[in-house]
Amino acid sequence: MEKFDWQDNLFESLSFPTLILTPDMTIFAANRRFLTKYSYIDKKIIGRKCYQILYQSEEPCQESSCPIKHVLANKEGTYVLTKTTGPDGAEVYEDRVCSPILNSNGEVGYIMASFRDVTKTKLLEIESQKTSEFLENIIASSASAILVADMKGVILRMNKSARKLFGYTDRVAVGTSIAEYLYTPGGAKSVMKKLRSTDYGGVGKLYTTEMTIITSSGEEIPVEMTASIIYQDGKEVATMGIYNDLRPKIETEKKLKEAERIKLEQSNKMASLGQLAAGVAHEINNPLSGILIDASLILEELDEDNPIRKDIQNIIIDTHRCKDIVKNLLAYSRQTEMKRELFNINDVIEQTFDLLAHHALLQNITINKEFSSSMLMCEGDKNQLVQVFTNIIINAAHAITGKGDITICTSRDKPKGKIYIEFSDTGCGIPEVALPKIFDHFFTTKEEGKGTGLGLGTVQSIIEKHGGKIKVKETSPEGTTFLIELPLFKVADDTLF
Ligand SMILES: Nc1ncnc2c1ncn2[C@@H]1O[C@H](COP(=O)(O)OP(=O)(O)OP(=O)(O)O)[C@@H](O)[C@H]1O
Ligand SMILES: [Mg+2]
Repeated sequence: MEKFDWQDNLFESLSFPTLILTPDMTIFAANRRFLTKYSYIDKKIIGRKCYQILYQSEEPCQESSCPIKHVLANKEGTYVLTKTTGPDGAEVYEDRVCSPILNSNGEVGYIMASFRDVTKTKLLEIESQKTSEFLENIIASSASAILVADMKGVILRMNKSARKLFGYTDRVAVGTSIAEYLYTPGGAKSVMKKLRSTDYGGVGKLYTTEMTIITSSGEEIPVEMTASIIYQDGKEVATMGIYNDLRPKIETEKKLKEAERIKLEQSNKMASLGQLAAGVAHEINNPLSGILIDASLILEELDEDNPIRKDIQNIIIDTHRCKDIVKNLLAYSRQTEMKRELFNINDVIEQTFDLLAHHALLQNITINKEFSSSMLMCEGDKNQLVQVFTNIIINAAHAITGKGDITICTSRDKPKGKIYIEFSDTGCGIPEVALPKIFDHFFTTKEEGKGTGLGLGTVQSIIEKHGGKIKVKETSPEGTTFLIELPLFKVADDTLF
């Protein structure tokens, strides 16, 4: 059998491009792999310096980046990772591994330098590093407190929000036991029990649960928590908890409850005040009618040039005003019975204008009626709706100083079963501060004797009794539009009228 000298073939058989260098960095030998890979197959490289061939430089590399210097000094192998650009412009990563070949005196006689292309591995490593940095960033920047602990409860990771919530710095908290510091007695055990049960979101998961945590200063904080077990190769390796501070929510709920309590107290007060006012209104209604009749009779008796005519006319105007207030008070406190009759809304608006025709306030105002030609059939109390429209029209007229317009536009949406009535005026508009209060009872911006602040409150309660809604559609110093929505009458078989 032919004798096989493996040592002779070793150098050429190496699967990495390899050079043999002398300690002064001269190339002594290069294997075929090296010559092919770096395109030196027909070129002379033996006898040249490694930095001339590898880096096209006439100067040796800096000591810190040259592995050969390390090999010579320590007589042991080492490697450097280099990044170069390939012929196609792509990044190429190479591990340049240098190993000493010692002579019989134990000195470094030669150096073997192998070049391993690690681009694929390196790019994967960079990609995975980027992904983990990205995930790390997500955790770090989360507004929720996130805490990761190993299965013994030792904290591994705490994001910024968690450090803030628990009041710990990373240095102090990481490496300490959760059970000991962060939960109330038995808290950590209970979380683990729930995590391993099937009842709280499945094994390994704990859907939102409320619990108490303890901060570094010993303060107990109510939180909402979700948790999960992190598995690796099917084994439990860590737990992750996400916590949200419940204090702001609890505080808001408390404030809301308090506001509701005050509102209830207020509406109770208003109800008894309303009852009282309604009682008084009821009592003065009849005497007012008497005054009105008597004053009208006196006026009829007086000659045209009688000087007290003006006074009697003022008595009549003021008594009308008193009667309006009484009407509003009675309607507001629901003392008036609500009738159920069927009518066309356009007719009720016309009727309102007939009643207001001689009202002094409307004399300089142009009324535009843009009525729908469809039947706007509505079921309810016609007189109460006359009162609604009167209040709105009088308010509009009050808002207009001098000349102006009031436009009433009616329409319907049959599929939605709704009637829409818009009252627009060219008045002064409602100031932003007043807007939330205009439907409140007794809210008025008018001077004493001109407004009681019951008008819109009454309007709202009548509209709501009819199953409708009222709102300010728009308001500005150029004018205001009120929008009323009423249900379109439905006949028994549910078809809309
Ligand atoms: N069309 C409007 N333009 C501007 N402001 C308005 C208009 N309608 C109502 N307001 C404002 O809303 C307030 C409340 O109106 P509301 O009708 O409830 O009371 P009032 O008119 O002041 O008194 P009352 O109607 O009881 O005589 C008014 O004082 C006024 O400031
Ligand atoms: Mg009014």
